[in-house]
Amino acid sequence: MAERRILPVLSSASAVGVFLLYLCCFFPAALSVNVTYDRRSLIIDGQRKLLISASIHYPRSVPAMWPGLVAAAKEGGADVIESYVFWNGHEPSPGKASIILFYYFGERFNLVKFARIVQEAGMYMILRIGPFVAAEWNFGGVPAWLHYIPGTIFRTDSEPWKTHMKSFTTVIVNMMKKEKLFAPQGGPIILAQIENEYGDTEAVYGDGGKRYAMWAAAMALSQNIGVPWIMCQQYDAPDNVINTCNSFYCDQFSPNSVNKPKFWTENWPGWFKTFGARNPHRPPEDIAFSVARFFQKGGSLQNYYMYHGGTNFDRTSGGPFITTSYDYDAPIDEYGLVRLPKWGHLRDLHKAIKLCEQVLLYGEPTFLSLGPLQEADVFTDLYGRCAAFISNMDAENDKYVILRNRSYLIPAWSVSILPECKNVGFNTAKVGSQTAITEMIPENIKISGWDIFVEKAGIWGKADFSNQGFVDHINTTRDSTDYLWYTTSLHVDESELLGNGTYEVLVVESKGHGVHAFLNQQLQVSAFGNGGNSSFKIETPIHLKPGNNEIAFLSMTVGLQNAGPLFEWTGAGLTSVKINGLRNGTVDLSSKSWVYKIGLQGENQQIYSPMNNFGWTSTSVLPKNQPLTWYKATINPPDGSDPVGLDMASMGKGRLWLNGKAIGRYWPRKSLSSDGCPGTCDYRGKFYPDKCNTGCGEPTQRWYHVPRSWFQPSGNTLVAFEEEGGDPTGISFSRRVVTGICNFVREDHPVMALESQQKTGGAGDGGDPEASLRLACPGKAAISAIRFASFGTPSGVCGSFLYGSCHYANSISVVQKACLSKRECSITLSRGSFGEDQCPGAVKALAVEAACS
Ligand SMILES: *[C@@H]1O[C@H](CO)[C@@H](O)[C@H](O)[C@H]1NC(C)=O
Ligand SMILES: *[C@@H]1O[C@H](CO)[C@@H](O)[C@H](O)[C@H]1NC(C)=O
Ligand SMILES: *[C@@H]1O[C@H](CO)[C@@H](O)[C@H](O)[C@H]1NC(C)=O
Ligand SMILES: *[C@@H]1O[C@H](CO)[C@@H](O)[C@H](O)[C@H]1NC(C)=O
Ligand SMILES: *[C@@H]1O[C@H](CO)[C@@H](O)[C@H](O)[C@H]1NC(C)=O
Ligand SMILES: *[C@@H]1O[C@H](CO)[C@@H](O)[C@H](O)[C@H]1NC(C)=O
Repeated sequence: MAERRILPVLSSASAVGVFLLYLCCFFPAALSVNVTYDRRSLIIDGQRKLLISASIHYPRSVPAMWPGLVAAAKEGGADVIESYVFWNGHEPSPGKASIILFYYFGERFNLVKFARIVQEAGMYMILRIGPFVAAEWNFGGVPAWLHYIPGTIFRTDSEPWKTHMKSFTTVIVNMMKKEKLFAPQGGPIILAQIENEYGDTEAVYGDGGKRYAMWAAAMALSQNIGVPWIMCQQYDAPDNVINTCNSFYCDQFSPNSVNKPKFWTENWPGWFKTFGARNPHRPPEDIAFSVARFFQKGGSLQNYYMYHGGTNFDRTSGGPFITTSYDYDAPIDEYGLVRLPKWGHLRDLHKAIKLCEQVLLYGEPTFLSLGPLQEADVFTDLYGRCAAFISNMDAENDKYVILRNRSYLIPAWSVSILPECKNVGFNTAKVGSQTAITEMIPENIKISGWDIFVEKAGIWGKADFSNQGFVDHINTTRDSTDYLWYTTSLHVDESELLGNGTYEVLVVESKGHGVHAFLNQQLQVSAFGNGGNSSFKIETPIHLKPGNNEIAFLSMTVGLQNAGPLFEWTGAGLTSVKINGLRNGTVDLSSKSWVYKIGLQGENQQIYSPMNNFGWTSTSVLPKNQPLTWYKATINPPDGSDPVGLDMASMGKGRLWLNGKAIGRYWPRKSLSSDGCPGTCDYRGKFYPDKCNTGCGEPTQRWYHVPRSWFQPSGNTLVAFEEEGGDPTGISFSRRVVTGICNFVREDHPVMALESQQKTGGAGDGGDPEASLRLACPGKAAISAIRFASFGTPSGVCGSFLYGSCHYANSISVVQKACLSKRECSITLSRGSFGEDQCPGAVKALAVEAACS
């Protein structure tokens, strides 16, 4: 689509130039493509390229979703799909580089299939191999087994680390070569990354860190992949490796050599979530501002991390405490639906930037200071082409500026893009895209007919080992499971109990991440750390009985540490257990003999596999609030093809499977109301992850995405393991549906100017383009009702628009006539669409909310 958009701009250029440019973009994908770079950009077959890239991590969705996600990224104006490579998904146990069978590339981990889909879409690909990736992914992507190879220290000059890192990198590179996926072989891959955000950590490792960074770069270069390598946040990257920026803003970034182009590998359009925390959002106006500033200041490749975040299926989420949802408030939501207006606003931004591509990349910039916080960069070239970016970095005040004898009002914290240095083609603060109301709609099907299996609290089968005192949880499970039982017993005589109705007090300390404490098979208390501090301490009253008391702690991890210096040495599990309030005072159990069992019996027996009947019993009375219980039901898929999520609000904490495939950890843990959520979110001013939180006092994650492709037509097996107790009758499916669309356009905010410029061939008649409002239903749906329409001075936001003092009575009928029963429609605000001017002097706007079905 970029080609078509570029043509109008070239109307002033020579016909030969147009012809050559046109040709460049239609090379068949299978031809060899030469990728180099200079100080300005990547150079693909001799042409400088301005590239918009979209992160979509292949294992965070399912193969059936990949073509749709890639297509939505392309439609959103992306040229490139970026993904990390997920080492611990591919090399679950130590491999041998020569024997590919040691590695896993099935299903969600089918990297080659994913790359082919990108290629078939006619897009490029950036392969961020790492293979340490952080990525809020379990253990930062590194296989847990590597930590237990003696002498290994991750990410420094450590021989076993380097050996395994090189070996895995080589496996991936060789696979890509064999499949001809690098650009010089006719494939989509134009860039590859080694290591990840190491610059911020390097100093911690001293000289070894420096040696390692240089070794990693040299090892990468020696792979001879034929396309450039990048290292992100690597301030000392050697020549021939491009160092890139990761941040909310990268306009001020410069690479470490004048010969390297300015690339932005991670622009965060939202943020990840941790269980028990609020929901972060980043306003589309601020993302667009950051992107426009980057290209204004000489950037030439920008990647959204994430463009589609997806789902941390199974136990792949890192953290600790990162949610199963990795939605990221990204332009495409977790379920694969475009998020509006974010996706649409960025699409419009990309069109405006692409109109300027040639003059940005081949012209020369002139910097103009237009005020204390206002500045323009004007790009001109030998053909007389011109493009200007005017920014107003004032976080509060809109400002008038003069450029080339014309006056422009630039809203606070925004950039105006002038593709021909005359008319404003786009302003980052003026959102022309419609807004969608997307909701989880409950299905009426009740899930019933549950079978159950209840785990014993403590050692099942044979104990694994016993030890004086505590072992580290992660060192013991080696991440084969979340769960580790710590058990002991305490004999007390009746005489030691105060016995007059008083309680004893159990005092427990843990490095994390959570624990359920059982006394004589009864759950006493559950406690957890959180995303800010995984350690915790609990004090809870208990009743010991005379004689022997069984004490059992189910300790658990909730995703392993995924980043930070020496992150692999972070421990978990109990550190202290005491009982207060006995006649003797306090009994410290910490150094007693503890008996251990790794994992649960149900996990060990894989009772979540559909064909496995181990232990299951059917029950007419379904136990509620019962800890350590496995539930199984046979279900039919929800009707239709909408994406689906399981509503787990009625449950405690545990894991979920459909047809043996692990959906992930569920935990409707609530954030604190007192954490504070702003009623509105001001896009103006620097963004930070806590700026625009929502969901105070609500579960951080209530719904759990179940990919449609995991369902069979009937007879599906749903399994939940509940740790602490819940009400399984409350589990139900919801469909994710766009229930309404809205748009709000002011007549003085002609936000769709790009379209009208194209219609007039970009000649620029000097007049302001007309404002118009557009609506479009997703997929095959049509506009079925107009819920609100007001031309005049309406206010409010989508879902709660309000009439203003000026309201044209015919608003509804005009909009109905233009839109009803259509998939999309457009209404011009001026030219008497609504009849004679009824409110002279007022700046009018049109607000519409419509239903799609
Ligand atoms: C690739 O392009 C660069 C300059 O852009 C050029 O120097 C080099 O010779 C080209 N390589 C091939 C194989 O065509
Ligand atoms: C701006 O106006 C001045 C004075 O009228 C004129 O000399 C100059 O050429 C104009 N500049 C542009 C870029 O049009
Ligand atoms: C229970 O007995 C202890 C020790 O004799 C005494 O200190 C305490 O006050 C008693 N508590 C109650 C509730 O009677
Ligand atoms: C983390 O929590 C533990 C237990 O509540 C506490 O002792 C420790 O000081 C906390 N650490 C930080 C860094 O807040
Ligand atoms: C895990 O075990 C290793 C030795 O195998 C030890 O060096 C390390 O300190 C242990 N980690 C924790 C958190 O206890
Ligand atoms: C309490 O003290 C008595 C006498 O010293 C001792 O025999 C008993 O084992 C102690 N009980 C516990 C639970 O430590």
